[in-house]
Order: sequence, then C-alpha cells, then structure tokens
Amino acid sequence: MASFQTVPNKVAFGLTYVRYTEHDTWGEILAFFTLAPILIHTGLFGALLARREMCTAMLLVGLTLNEVISLVLKKLIQEPRPETCEFLEACGSFGMPSSHAQYVIFLATNVTLAAIRHKYRKVQPPFLHTPFAVNRFDNVQLLLLLLVWPLACMVIESRMYLGYHNADQVVKGSLAGLFFGSLWFNLEARLQAFYPAFQATKFCRTFFLKDSSHIPNAFAYEYASCLKAQSQREAATKKAE
Ligand SMILES: *[C@@H]1O[C@H](CO)[C@@H](O)[C@H](O)[C@H]1NC(C)=O
Repeated sequence: MASFQTVPNKVAFGLTYVRYTEHDTWGEILAFFTLAPILIHTGLFGALLARREMCTAMLLVGLTLNEVISLVLKKLIQEPRPETCEFLEACGSFGMPSSHAQYVIFLATNVTLAAIRHKYRKVQPPFLHTPFAVNRFDNVQLLLLLLVWPLACMVIESRMYLGYHNADQVVKGSLAGLFFGSLWFNLEARLQAFYPAFQATKFCRTFFLKDSSHIPNAFAYEYASCLKAQSQREAATKKAE
C-alpha cells in the first residue's frame, strides 16, 4: 500500500516564479516586469488568433526560436547564476546568457529596424506593419519605440536587481538578442517577397493567414467592407420581398 505519511516535496513552478525582498516596492514592481516576456508572448498569440497577420506569426516564430537558442546556449555554457540565486530558489538553472534580456532586445531590435526602414524607405513596403495591423500612422511606430525600449530596460534591470543575473549575463544576453533580432529582421524582409505565393497555399487558406501590409489601414478596410456587405444584404432582402 502506498504511504502518504511523508510530507510531499512541493516545488514552485519555475516559469512564473519570482521573488523579491519583503516590503521592497521597487522590487515588487520589477518582479512584475520580469514576467513581461511571458505576457508579451501571450498577447502576441492573442493578436495572431484575432488578426491572422503574417508579420505577427513571423514575430512569434522569431521570438520562440530566439528563446530556444537562449536555453540551448545556457545548457552549453553552463555558467551558474550569481550567489543570490540561493534566496530565489533559482540555482537549478544556468545564467549565461540572460534569456529575458535576449528576448526583450530581440523584440526592441525588430521594432527599431522596422521603424528605420519605414522612415528611410518610403516605397517598399508601402505601409508601417505592426502585429496589430494598424499601419497608416508613423505615430504608431513612434509609440511602439517609446514603449519597447523603456520596457526592455525595466526587464533587464529586474533580472539584475532581483538577483537572477549579473551584469555580464544580461549584457551578453542583450548582445545575443541584438544579433538574432537583426538576423531575423533581415531574413523576414527577404521572405516578404514570397508572402503573396505563400498566402495561396492550403495552410494559409485554412487558417486565413494573410499579409495586409499593402492596405493602408486594415481596420478602416474591414470596417468599410463590413458595412458594405451589410447594406448589400439589406438591399437583397428588400428585393426578395
Ligand atoms: C519585425 O520585422 C519585420 C521584418 O521586416 C517587420 O515586417 C515587422 O513589422 C517587425 N515587427 C515589429 C513589431 O516591428
């Protein structure tokens, strides 16, 4: 018979487990920012389900590959976290490079390069392209830039402040994010030429995966088509009566 006498050894779920010093408000704020990559990933997945845009899918694939690379690097390099990991119960995993830093800098690099390209190459592609398909206003790009860099700084600061990484590990993580972010941006820019053909495949037709960067404002376009279809339907029912 199985014995339930022993106290089961409960461990915290690592992915979302964060610790900060009691009564430390700044630590508490930074503990929230440390969760940003998970929240961003979830948000982007929601945006993909709702918008079915190629650029959202590509960003998600890129960020996921970047994360996998970071975890593989940690396993290969095998550099422990700083001694503070003991208070955080985080010594079970390696610290080089910081995958949080790599994640946010990958994202910030993509947003920045897209903004630069948009500003200096007005012709190709015609419109600003975000995961949310609002692509007419330069202001959206500026807003994204003003959000993504402070966010990246907060996430990186949180990793050091809370004691999960030392400065060297977040710097190298950031460099890795810069490298893979630029690489992915360039790869994606090249692949964009194949989007029209790819959109016609069975896969894209099944999941309605599309590239609407040629439409100035996808929201305005959808709104107009919806109203148009509605009035056509009303006209048809009137005729039938
Ligand atoms: C990321 O880079 C791609 C590649 O050119 C671009 O189409 C996309 O809009 C960028 N994503 C963001 C969020 O800036």
